[in-house]
Amino acid sequence: MSNFRVRENFIPYNRPDITNAEIGEVVDTLKSGWIARGPRTLQFEQAFAKYVGAKHALALNSCTAALHVSLLSAGIGPGDEVITTPMTFASTANTVIHCGAKPVFADIDYRTGCIDPAEVAKKITPKTKAIVPVHYSGQVCDLDPIYALADKYHLYVSEDAAHALWSRYKGRLIGNHLKGSACYSFYATKNLTTGEGGMLVTDNDEIDAKARIWAGQGMSKNAWNRYAKGGSWKYDICEPGFKYNMFDIQAALGLRQLDRLEEMQQKRLKIAAQYQAAFSKCDALDPPFVPEYTTHCWHLYVLRIVPENLTIDRDQFIVELNNRNVGTSVHFIPVTNMSAYTSRYGFKPSDFPNTEKHYQRIISLPLYPTMTDEEVQYVIDAVLDIAEKFHK
Ligand SMILES: Cc1ncc(COP(=O)(O)O)c(C=O)c1O
Repeated sequence: MSNFRVRENFIPYNRPDITNAEIGEVVDTLKSGWIARGPRTLQFEQAFAKYVGAKHALALNSCTAALHVSLLSAGIGPGDEVITTPMTFASTANTVIHCGAKPVFADIDYRTGCIDPAEVAKKITPKTKAIVPVHYSGQVCDLDPIYALADKYHLYVSEDAAHALWSRYKGRLIGNHLKGSACYSFYATKNLTTGEGGMLVTDNDEIDAKARIWAGQGMSKNAWNRYAKGGSWKYDICEPGFKYNMFDIQAALGLRQLDRLEEMQQKRLKIAAQYQAAFSKCDALDPPFVPEYTTHCWHLYVLRIVPENLTIDRDQFIVELNNRNVGTSVHFIPVTNMSAYTSRYGFKPSDFPNTEKHYQRIISLPLYPTMTDEEVQYVIDAVLDIAEKFHK
């Protein structure tokens, strides 16, 4: 039997990694006299575009905003269908509905948790206009067959890269040399944070130009500097747009976080490797499978339990972790299980069997750069203690 001892302090599921570099940049911004969208937001856009290797980057107040304007800019609207995954946060699908279009769901590849291109192919109809693949947890979708379908059926691809900054597909950074667009999140728990924030990245001039209009109240031109000397007060509203812009205090955080991304990533990679090594030895646990084509950024560590070898289910496993002072989360309750979706479209969990099986087994463990070695070892010990204690 393990001689596991419960620690005194709770290990939170997540804790942001903010240093004096970010704090100093925010203070400088506050003192600069320009706190709304301005020079730092532009610098952040340029630095981000350079980092991922994309032509354009548009900084926004969330990934949700990025997903929304990405679809609007591609002309998605009433009568159109957009194919996405049930294993995602609601905003991936909500934004399709916000455009007046219909979200259509394709089941996941059980190995990775990402959308299965073969399932996407089955869902294409004459109304399909776009695919929104989600790079779940920092895994990447198998993009080649997805873009092959997009080419064949003339579909727009808007990658939900909320989890996937730093991830690579076949060695290439997500966002690099895109045929479609990619949408990132800088929410507090993300690998790079601006508190709240997002980025729309594309190589397509038209998508970028339209997205800037949709995200900026529908103003005919970038009017952020209309208060500066020489700036013009004249503008038109050419679309009923949204107020989705990032502002300079957020961008200040983003600039300094981007400088530190590689250092933060190396810490994530080290923790993930420790988890993988520890959990792969236990037949009651099913650690993430990483396909050859994926370089995983480990935004999330999604551990699956193997209920066949346990006397408890996932929900009880989470309670046991909580009793041992380990914070967890679940990514995700499938969107197709949510009442807004079941009531509208009549989905049943059995419509997406891989998604449901995955959902019933998953627990997201703490994984972030500010975790101490002791905390990482403690999480491992707590998980193994439960797996041993409740093993069949
Ligand atoms: C897969 C996925 N897409 C989109 C979003 C929305 O991101 P945001 O909170 O920046 O709007 C999230 C949020 O965590 C997410 O997990």
